Amino acid sequence: MANNEDKFKKVISHAKEYGYIFGSSEIYDGLSAVYDYAQNGVELKKNIRDYWWKSMVQMHQNIVGLDAAILMHPTTWKASGHVDAFNDPLIDNKDSKKRYRADVLIEDYAEKLEQKAQKEINKAAKRFGEAFNEEEFVATNARVIGYKEKKAEVLSRMASSLEKENLQDVKLLIEELEIACPVSGSKNWTDVKQFNLMFGTKLGASAESATDLYLRPETAQGIFVNFLNVQKTGRMKIPFGIAQTGKAFRNEIVARQFIFRMREFEQMEMQFFVRPGEEMKYYEYWKEERLNWHLSLGLGKENYRFHDHDKLAHYANAAADIEFNFPFGFKELEGIHSRTDFDLKAHEKHSGKKLQFFDPELKENYTPYVVETSIGLDRMFLAVFSTALQDEALEDGSSRVVLKLPSILAPVKIAVFPLIKRDGLPEIANAIIEDLKWDYNVFYDEKDAVGKRYRRQDANGTPYCVTVDHQTLEDNTVTIRHRDSMEQERVAIVEIRSVVEKTLSLKHWLNH
Ligand code: GAP
Repeated sequence: MANNEDKFKKVISHAKEYGYIFGSSEIYDGLSAVYDYAQNGVELKKNIRDYWWKSMVQMHQNIVGLDAAILMHPTTWKASGHVDAFNDPLIDNKDSKKRYRADVLIEDYAEKLEQKAQKEINKAAKRFGEAFNEEEFVATNARVIGYKEKKAEVLSRMASSLEKENLQDVKLLIEELEIACPVSGSKNWTDVKQFNLMFGTKLGASAESATDLYLRPETAQGIFVNFLNVQKTGRMKIPFGIAQTGKAFRNEIVARQFIFRMREFEQMEMQFFVRPGEEMKYYEYWKEERLNWHLSLGLGKENYRFHDHDKLAHYANAAADIEFNFPFGFKELEGIHSRTDFDLKAHEKHSGKKLQFFDPELKENYTPYVVETSIGLDRMFLAVFSTALQDEALEDGSSRVVLKLPSILAPVKIAVFPLIKRDGLPEIANAIIEDLKWDYNVFYDEKDAVGKRYRRQDANGTPYCVTVDHQTLEDNTVTIRHRDSMEQERVAIVEIRSVVEKTLSLKHWLNH
């Protein structure tokens, strides 16, 4: 597909046209950065959630699930640090009146330096051909070194200023780098201010007696406050994990890029409780495990990279993102954080309750350390969907739009067609559906020529189409057409299951 911007536009319009994602309350012109998942979207989203859940919970004897409430006691957020520190540094452009996250403006500037370095590398690779040694070039080329050093310097100054709450210096940095407003091109900036991202709400009937609450900005705290409940009732021994999926809410200021940054979104998080001192071992372990989970879906190794954080969240002693190559470039998809004992200790302090574990091997009590894996379900959806959507040139000179979703995630697994609407073919197609629907999401279509129906299912991401024709009446065989190769094979109706289950089983995907 053409350039990245075009590609992204196509992703958004395809998601709407094929019933994946609509803007929220569209009849009222929508609500910014809030989206609804439609008939196909809800299936894809559920399948991604299940794929995560099964790999985390079902495949690990020492990880169990939880579904905590969205509303929590307000002290939770005081203890977690979100009331005081869950802020974004904001800056306004005085001419365009547009508001930006100061750190995002600086990060975008740094990313441009990276792109310049990459351009030099690509140019040299072209010039030297096969003899090109990228590692050596990156280590010795003055321009590349210059860009990379500048990038590191900019990011490290920003990180240290933010850490010290020196917002004056963040503004100074923006001015020194001559960063201009992307809308007006003006460099006329206000001071940088902190803005808390939590959505507030109220519990109670009357204004006087109402309690101020927050919609949770992360699911993790539901896990921390239940740590001891789960450990005791599940007789869990350290190391063990608690996994949870669910909605989180953030009053994002710069909410753009479709479902990449939403105000209401879903997280899939796992907190892994470990002995103090062993956290770095598990941090490295989960970094690798999580990357392997992503790679298992076959979206391409080159589309992932790790990014170690310079600016650590208030609770972490190490943190890395798994970044994905979205249509608008590499951006955070998942975070792996070593959260120390910050959260459990803070909840102990604010609640007055001990949240400790008696380690029978060490014969001592301690507050466990935590390694967290946290992925946005909507971002994962965007990663899968945007990579899967392809404009494919065909051998006969025509082209097709195909959504090459990993088949384990596809909303509809099998579409069943009668070649024509009579001669008993629809009845056989429906009987096949009756049989397959117990295990798979199946879809019946009898409208239009069969070629058109294939194309519709290609664009919808359906991995298999089964066609019933007149030969079926004679020998009980059907045609199975494979979405990616477009190959067709003739199989007995009783064989359909064994053909499709090869690529629709969890084992096929997770076990390699
Ligand atoms: N419990 C840790 C935590 O919440 P985070 O890096 O703030 O860490 C984790 O968020 C993940 O949640 C991110 O990697 C991203 O995938 C997703 N996420 C965060 N904010 C989001 C937003 N506004 N819209 C969509 N996904 C978001």
